Amino acid sequence: MSSLPDIQPVVFSPEIEQTAPDEINTIAELVEVFLGMAHTVADYEGHAFRAVHAKGHALLRGKLTVREGLPAVYAQGLFAQPGEYEAIMRMSSPPAEQLSDQVSTPRAVALKLMRVPGERVPESRDHDTQDFLMVNGPVFTRPGPKEFLRDAKLLAATTEKAPEAKEVFSSVLRGAEKVIEALGGESETLKALGGEPATHPLGDTFYAQTPFLYGPYIAKFALAPVSPALTALTDQPLQSEDEDAQRHAISAFFHDRDGAPVEWELRVQLCTDLARMPVEDASVQWPEALSPFVAVASLVVPPQQSWLQGRSQVEEDELAFDPWHTVAAHRPLGAVNRARRVVLAASRQFRGAFNRCPIHEPKLRRA
Ligand code: HEM
Repeated sequence: MSSLPDIQPVVFSPEIEQTAPDEINTIAELVEVFLGMAHTVADYEGHAFRAVHAKGHALLRGKLTVREGLPAVYAQGLFAQPGEYEAIMRMSSPPAEQLSDQVSTPRAVALKLMRVPGERVPESRDHDTQDFLMVNGPVFTRPGPKEFLRDAKLLAATTEKAPEAKEVFSSVLRGAEKVIEALGGESETLKALGGEPATHPLGDTFYAQTPFLYGPYIAKFALAPVSPALTALTDQPLQSEDEDAQRHAISAFFHDRDGAPVEWELRVQLCTDLARMPVEDASVQWPEALSPFVAVASLVVPPQQSWLQGRSQVEEDELAFDPWHTVAAHRPLGAVNRARRVVLAASRQFRGAFNRCPIHEPKLRRA
């Protein structure tokens, strides 16, 4: 651990969180827009999916091991002591629809740890799970829920309208994104709209983008591939005529592994400067020069069947991932997370009721 940075993390205090006067109205509007999208898709498909991140590509089982000997500032909350946790990992794409993978959007991962001890936030006081929701880019596309609401309305207006047109649009946007990259930039907006380069999801680094308590401190989380078999896939093109290209690529990878597990690192970036590493603006990338991401745990995933047509759909219908499924030591912070507390709950209530499929945490501590 000698190479770990010598940093002075900011200690959290309640005034660091600033709630906008109209935040409650923005959140109510977000609920309306997201439920509208979920309704549109449910009417079209005859089945309700997550209001966003509707298409699952993999449901993997693994184990997260908290590292031994972490320095005191990193040994906080769930990472205070070495330990092992069973994990479920769902890989998905953000759109509301079951789109063909020819429409190339960002990629996401949701991680759920089981039987995590410790005081809970009130929202999940009956559970003992710890969830991390991450996307393959370091920042959220907008500073907060108010700006995000405008994008959400745009998305809602195109939900289930001409999926074929979205495929054409996506390939045009990918072309535009390549031109912008060649000029030395990246456009998060183009990527979110379908211009994400179509590469293998198992090579991606995923980011929680928003801040969380980290014991007395404030942190962002990331999940990075470290096994050579995974890093070899980073930026590897994944384009074919296959509309479930991601599902099939992940299945092939975990089927052909000859018994060898693969590893990701769960990394933490502690906030050391509230001005340059803000809590309320999720669109600002926290500079790694001030505080780098540091590995606090390893996620090891053995070979397995990552997707079973039919069974995996039922399983993902029954599951819900939410950053508010957490111990109090990792309570979500900032406006985007406050909005998610309400919008994610509304989405899972809707799909549970529509499908008559009760959603539950995989293991409850109390009956
Ligand atoms: C105000 C901002 C946001 C809103 C309103 C929002 C809304 C939602 C909703 C409604 C769901 C579906 C929940 C369900 O039915 O179970 C969802 C899923 C998801 N969100 Fe967000 N989200 C926001 C920000 C973010 C951010 C910042 C991230 C991470 C960087 C993220 C990552 C995910 C992931 C990975 C899933 C899929 C979870 C799963 O596999 O079940 N979201 N979001």
